[in-house]
Amino acid sequence: MLVIIKNNYEEMSNEAAKIVADRLRKKPDLVLGLATGSTPLGLYKELIRMYKEEGLDFSKVTTFNLDEYVGLPPTHNQSYHYFMYENFFNHININPRYIHIPHGMAKDVDTFCDWYEKRIIECGGIDLQILGIGANGHIAFNEPGSSLGSRVRIKTLTEKTRNDNARFFASMDEVPKYAITMGIGTVMDSKEIILIANGEKKANAIKDAVEGPITGMCPATIVQMHRKVYVLLDKEAASKLKGDYVDSWEAKVFS
Ligand code: F6R
Repeated sequence: MLVIIKNNYEEMSNEAAKIVADRLRKKPDLVLGLATGSTPLGLYKELIRMYKEEGLDFSKVTTFNLDEYVGLPPTHNQSYHYFMYENFFNHININPRYIHIPHGMAKDVDTFCDWYEKRIIECGGIDLQILGIGANGHIAFNEPGSSLGSRVRIKTLTEKTRNDNARFFASMDEVPKYAITMGIGTVMDSKEIILIANGEKKANAIKDAVEGPITGMCPATIVQMHRKVYVLLDKEAASKLKGDYVDSWEAKVFS
């Protein structure tokens, strides 16, 4: 694990983009795992800038998103499909045929989940997975209590998550009840991981994930078992850590 602490969100996002760009230049047909949410927006913005100004080439990249709501069509403005196209894919030269996002309208969800898991393997496995973290330590839609060996599957959303999301929908009935998510085992099979977190509200989850005991009650703690994970933070998210950490991804001090 390499914990990198930057001064602010912008520096954190740009540092993450440097790692992605480095891997992409070394392997143009990179298989990239992607997250939605507010945290990776700065990273996507910087990658778009690198595409436009530096010619960073996404034409051979394959992507796999972590999760999607069940029951929302790709055109719904709260779907993760919509989010990814709006905030990233529409602005780079990615081939749409190489984009994978769990299909929220799949007729047979279990069969779809098995297919998604196999498709990752068929594409050679995920080279680099981008992860955010929930304030309760969740990764993807793996909430506390998830099996640390879990694979792609359907999960029931907690009442808290549904209530938190209610503001984005016309009524509570429209708020999705289920999501398809990569499992913790699926995420851990990635060759490299960048976990990004910013802001004080993530400080406790980061303290647990980096320095706490490994437990399914804080799914992100499993990254301590990964052979190559960058935990990239701003000062607020890192504020409760006790150890000594670095400020650049180029430091060769993986613990
Ligand atoms: C999104 C995802 C979630 C988020 C997490 C943090 O695809 O898998 O686990 O990474 O909820 O969300 P933000 O970045 O909005 O704080």
